[in-house]
Amino acid sequence: MEDKGIPREQIFRMIRKYKEIDLTHRSGRILGSMCTCPHPVGVEAYFMFLESNLGDPGLFPGTKSMEDEVIAMLGELLGKKDVFGHIITGGTEANLMAMRAARNTLKMDNPEIIVPQSAHFSFRKAADILCLKLIKADLDDDYRVKMASVEELISDNTVAIVGVAGTTEMGKIDPIEELSDLCLENDIYLHVDAAFGGYSIPFLKDAGYDLPKFDFSLQGVSSITIDPHKMGLAPIPTGGILFRKRKYLESMAVETPYLTEEMQSTVVGTRSGAAAAATWALLKHLGNEGYRKIAVECMEITLFLAEGIMKVGFELVTPPQLNIVAFRSKKISVEEIARRLEDRGWAISMASYPESIRIIVMPHLKREHIEAFLSDLEIINQD
Ligand SMILES: Cc1ncc(COP(=O)(O)O)c(C=O)c1O
Repeated sequence: MEDKGIPREQIFRMIRKYKEIDLTHRSGRILGSMCTCPHPVGVEAYFMFLESNLGDPGLFPGTKSMEDEVIAMLGELLGKKDVFGHIITGGTEANLMAMRAARNTLKMDNPEIIVPQSAHFSFRKAADILCLKLIKADLDDDYRVKMASVEELISDNTVAIVGVAGTTEMGKIDPIEELSDLCLENDIYLHVDAAFGGYSIPFLKDAGYDLPKFDFSLQGVSSITIDPHKMGLAPIPTGGILFRKRKYLESMAVETPYLTEEMQSTVVGTRSGAAAAATWALLKHLGNEGYRKIAVECMEITLFLAEGIMKVGFELVTPPQLNIVAFRSKKISVEEIARRLEDRGWAISMASYPESIRIIVMPHLKREHIEAFLSDLEIINQD
């Protein structure tokens, strides 16, 4: 660190050099991320509330009201307006909070959670932090959790079952309705990880896509993760956790002696009010119509990509259910496809189960980007 400070202009000249080596979503080259360009309205709202700390909400009652309104709006989107929750850092923290609520409510000696084999690695972190035994259920041929496997794994120590609505690698929706019935019958906490699908499934259903139920309209669903910083177009870091009952938040509340709130249930203390403000602004600005348009455009480009991939000689792992396409080749290994695509400047990612290239068609990807990608893919297949 310098003894004497550096002038402002020079600082920005210096940091621009770092910025220049970063990729941008705007370039259309990032094909393997669930993040996207934040919407300008969200960015402006975020900037306006940069000093708001929702960890001390009595100082920022305006921001707190926005958070409450956001939770109600997200609850309404997901089948129940009177839900309880918070705007937090992302899917990882939301899943951690859900598992903590389940564990604290059920209070077992050797708690276990059952997650699909496709569950995000954040459940591994949650299991480690909360001392839960992580049990993985098998998937069916279409990469959704197998009900028979979940049923078989239930024990007297099961505190929670997890279903995913928009799996990280394949974008599949688990049979949440069946999981809900199972959890009601066995009195088990059901958490739905809709970090990715929460902002698209309801809008796609509205637009006529045939997608299954996954939300609080199913009585067995106790909590839902929904991430505004994925398909919600909010700036990073913005996540959401919603609980059906207040008692789940209360089960993890600790006393906060020196703050303006008496009890706190979030994992972090000081937390961003800007994230809540950005989410509020975007829900109001885009509305159902705006989000429906975004979700439908992403799906249309996804289907165009999926067809194109087959036309240029690759095979889909599974038909896309949401805006994720996984593919592979009969003659080139997945690592080799990835290497050749990276050489051509594409930032893709690889799925682990099954091994494949995974493309997430986020709102920053337009048809022209996909056309350019497909022509490179065709060349790669002929190399
Ligand atoms: C289904 C799902 N859940 C949770 C997460 C974790 O979200 P975050 O990276 O915002 O913590 C992801 C991330 O991709 C995800 O796909």
